Amino acid sequence: MRSVRDNLTESGLVDSDIAGCVGYVDIHCHCLPELDDGPATIAEAISLCKALSDDGIVKVIATPHQLGRFSGCNSAEYVRQTIAQFSEELKKNNVSLEILPGGDVRVDERICQLLEQDEILTLADGGKYILLELPHEIFIDIEPLIIELETAGIKSIISHPERHPVLAREHNILYKWSEYSACLQITAGSLLGDFGQSAKEAAWEFLESGLAAFCATDAHDLLGRRPKMTAAFESIRAKMGKEIANLVCIENPLRVLNGVELEAVYPVVAGE
Ligand SMILES: [Fe+2]
Repeated sequence: MRSVRDNLTESGLVDSDIAGCVGYVDIHCHCLPELDDGPATIAEAISLCKALSDDGIVKVIATPHQLGRFSGCNSAEYVRQTIAQFSEELKKNNVSLEILPGGDVRVDERICQLLEQDEILTLADGGKYILLELPHEIFIDIEPLIIELETAGIKSIISHPERHPVLAREHNILYKWSEYSACLQITAGSLLGDFGQSAKEAAWEFLESGLAAFCATDAHDLLGRRPKMTAAFESIRAKMGKEIANLVCIENPLRVLNGVELEAVYPVVAGE
């Protein structure tokens, strides 16, 4: 298996500004202990973070669920405090991984108000991007929310639409939302078939159409939801070329961390 450093060295990114971080950047991960449906204990969370680091990830935005069934839990300040404490545990255990605050925010008409009240988090606590999770049981057209957020200067990132029963098929809805600056995050495991054939096909279609700006782990544990960024990177690189793999696994995630505009994703012919 090639290492992330091999991939970055070959791509030229090791010497660039972007590779000031030599590794992948994960914008969606449930790696904090005792907060949501991620690790239940500090020991499990340390093991998951070690797996993230072993998978070539150097920076991760912790995105515990906020709102929905976690309404009233995981406030912005509590997530920040947990990260500060847990990062000390990682250091003590020699796990090299930078964790930043964020949320996997269930869509809710109060989101802009709750952001103003500092109850929920934007990604990397930067005020520029928010990760939005839609319910899978029912389809909700969130165009008004996306517009409201855009008006407030916040870009919406739709988490794993390839796993949503309606969005995986109805791409026109996503094109419509993208006109209001929404972009898509696909899950590494989806590209590899971990969530079934239709999620796999939709994830690749989103990449090939340029709708997907990010690949992230959405890791929860070391069993069925373990991080698979390196395998996904390799797969994207083989099918679409190294530029796209770098863009969705490193460059655009770093732009979110830095609160700057994204690069557009363009289809690249395999083998280029
Ligand atoms: Fe998630």
